[in-house]
Amino acid sequence: MLRRLHHEQPDSFAFTPANKEWAETQITKYPEGRQASAIIPLLWRAQEQEGWLSRPAIEHVADMLGLAYIRALEVASFYFMFQLQPVGSVANIQVCGTTSCMICGAEDLVGVCREKIADKPHTLSADGKFSWEEVECLGACANAPMAQIGKDYYEDLTAERLAEIIDELASGKVPTPGPQNGRYASEPLSGLTSLKDFDSGQTKYNASVQLATDIGETVKRIDGTEVPILAPWRDKGANHKPDAPSVKLSAEPQDVSAAAPVMAKPAADKADKPKSAAKPKPAKPQKATKAASTPDAGTKPEALSGARGYAADDLKQIKGVGPKLEKLLNSHGIYHFDQIASWSEAEVAWADQSLVGFKGRVSRDNWVDQAKVLAEGGETEFSKRVEDGDVY
Ligand code: FES
Repeated sequence: MLRRLHHEQPDSFAFTPANKEWAETQITKYPEGRQASAIIPLLWRAQEQEGWLSRPAIEHVADMLGLAYIRALEVASFYFMFQLQPVGSVANIQVCGTTSCMICGAEDLVGVCREKIADKPHTLSADGKFSWEEVECLGACANAPMAQIGKDYYEDLTAERLAEIIDELASGKVPTPGPQNGRYASEPLSGLTSLKDFDSGQTKYNASVQLATDIGETVKRIDGTEVPILAPWRDKGANHKPDAPSVKLSAEPQDVSAAAPVMAKPAADKADKPKSAAKPKPAKPQKATKAASTPDAGTKPEALSGARGYAADDLKQIKGVGPKLEKLLNSHGIYHFDQIASWSEAEVAWADQSLVGFKGRVSRDNWVDQAKVLAEGGETEFSKRVEDGDVY
């Protein structure tokens, strides 16, 4: 199947505040220089929030990770779990069409979807509430045929039952997931033949269904407030940074919060963020603006009002600086390697804190040392890769 960006795209994308904090916390999981490894969880979170991945969402995630947009698009378009077109506002129904389900009636389920939703997969129903697709084995073959709806499995389906489920979802109800033919789990339909003393009465449903009903978010979009943001690695690993994005509890903490340390967000964090700077004008180069300094945020480096000789250095040759970050640096009056090469510790601290969305990156990737080499006309291993076209 050809996977392309949808022809209709929203103007913008932004994570909810809670999802943004979750995403920033995920990035701290990865070793220095490997933050791009967070791309799949971040794309997935964007999809959980919106239902699908729009171009602005993919670009937003790329910006957060300092990646060229094409790199993020490559990942989003490779994995079929990422939806590149709008899905139903209520649910996208994923019917398993692999062997066990096919033998047990998957084609009938697809027929229901064609009739009640849309003739073709990946197409919205007339009311926009549903979409559907056929997927490969979802690992519930003993309960074939089945479909995943939202985050949960509906098993032992018949065409009639799937039609009812769609109607129930359309009316705002969320049918109980799991076996739909009276089975507790995947035991024989005629009853147990062994382990007959198994006590299924401990919970009303089998463990998966019980958890699904307890959480109750089967078809809900994720806004980030559902569960605490946990980051146990933050206090353990060598990569722990005290100024990295904070971890907090949601408004309604659940029991699992006790299982991991919780760090409160410093009150000053938001206040320290710089206001957006005006775009630099190329005229009158080399006029320095007054440096700002606060004890907490470090010292703002001297800024130029424009690139010297109207030609800025290609700051993307510094490992850790992507197109978005380069623009951000330019907006702060930073255009040249020698500017970065001369940064003091206080200026690095300012940059680490003030490059919104890229906290800690300056010291993590050791920009100053890289910039010193580049400012003297030398090459780093990374800049050589950029020159060779291996990095975009
Ligand atoms: S074949 Fe359908 S879940 Fe495995």
